[in-house]
Amino acid sequence: MRLLVTGGAGFIGANFVHLTLREFPDTEVTVLDALTYAGSRESLSEVADRIRLVEGDITDGALVDELIAGTDAVVHFAAETHVDNGLADPAPFVHTNVVGTFTVLEAVRRHGVRLHHVSTDEVYGDLELGDPARFTESTPYNPSSPYSSTKASADLLVRAWVRSYGVRATISNCSNNYGPYQHVEKFIPRQITNLLTGRRAKLYGSGANVRDWIHVDDHNAAVWRILRDGAIGATYLIGADGERDNLSVLRTLLTLLDRDPDDFDHVPDRAGHDLRYAIDASRLRDELGWRPQHTDFEAGLRATVDWYRSNESWWGPLKADVEARYAERGR
Ligand SMILES: NC(=O)c1ccc[n+]([C@@H]2O[C@H](COP(=O)([O-])OP(=O)(O)OC[C@H]3O[C@@H](n4cnc5c(N)ncnc54)[C@H](O)[C@@H]3O)[C@@H](O)[C@H]2O)c1
Repeated sequence: MRLLVTGGAGFIGANFVHLTLREFPDTEVTVLDALTYAGSRESLSEVADRIRLVEGDITDGALVDELIAGTDAVVHFAAETHVDNGLADPAPFVHTNVVGTFTVLEAVRRHGVRLHHVSTDEVYGDLELGDPARFTESTPYNPSSPYSSTKASADLLVRAWVRSYGVRATISNCSNNYGPYQHVEKFIPRQITNLLTGRRAKLYGSGANVRDWIHVDDHNAAVWRILRDGAIGATYLIGADGERDNLSVLRTLLTLLDRDPDDFDHVPDRAGHDLRYAIDASRLRDELGWRPQHTDFEAGLRATVDWYRSNESWWGPLKADVEARYAERGR
């Protein structure tokens, strides 16, 4: 299969490329990535001779058209993804997440190419703490932030292109991912790299907010399952029953790094901070037989800590800028 991976130099996309070449080595992979601050050639350096990496913007209609004309399927990861950045400046989120997805959709429509669109559970808004409810495929969209509202917009475009034009597309909405190659601006890598560089760990608000954590390889295995066997037009929720509040994740990280679990700073909370996300992935499990493999969260976190410890050359050059941006925002 010839596969175009948009955003393949980002966190989940790069892990997807690695997993693809491990598990489906006959796949011809082309990555289209603008190499924004969030994308990194180094994340693909181990497989550089096995893929084609095209540096370009997914809103570049001519480039996207040319690449999609020569492919069998597209897995669309490219997006602006950091909620705090979207609050500070939403324009790139509308550009990439909405116009970019529109550009991809128009090209797959013209060339009849299969598309899998990767999205987030944040499109559903949030749940109350302590509420037993979880998101399902029929939960109404209720996004809170520029990030989640532009991802929701993209999802709706995909649904409409399936219905109106018969585009062969599927959508997945996944919960929070962790694992190697995640940018140090994100919660788990930020804490790990703060502690590895002698900085202090930082917690937004009280830390009661709950996220439903999944290892990035489990997410990507689900994406492959949907790409191969998913029903055209369907949406699948991806989650691994990994609900944990931010405070307990932070304490686990402090313990894994041999620190006092209460030795961290509280910083001002994010505006409109979603309280709780939780995924019911029954459809994916029942219809496609997917099961997460990384079910021991603490073991997964330990491996992630070890990865950051061993790969300072990958994240070290990013760290000072990220912390300067957090400092400007008082966090
Ligand atoms: N990280 C999570 O926990 C999570 C959970 C669910 C869904 N998702 C979704 O998965 C996808 C990937 O997320 P991630 O965490 O890997 O993000 P990331 O920010 O690490 O990577 C995004 C990639 O997209 C590229 N990109 C950005 N704008 C582009 C443009 N205009 N043209 C081409 N490339 C561009 C960046 O250079 C980067 O390589 C996103 O669609 C996101 O919404 C993420």
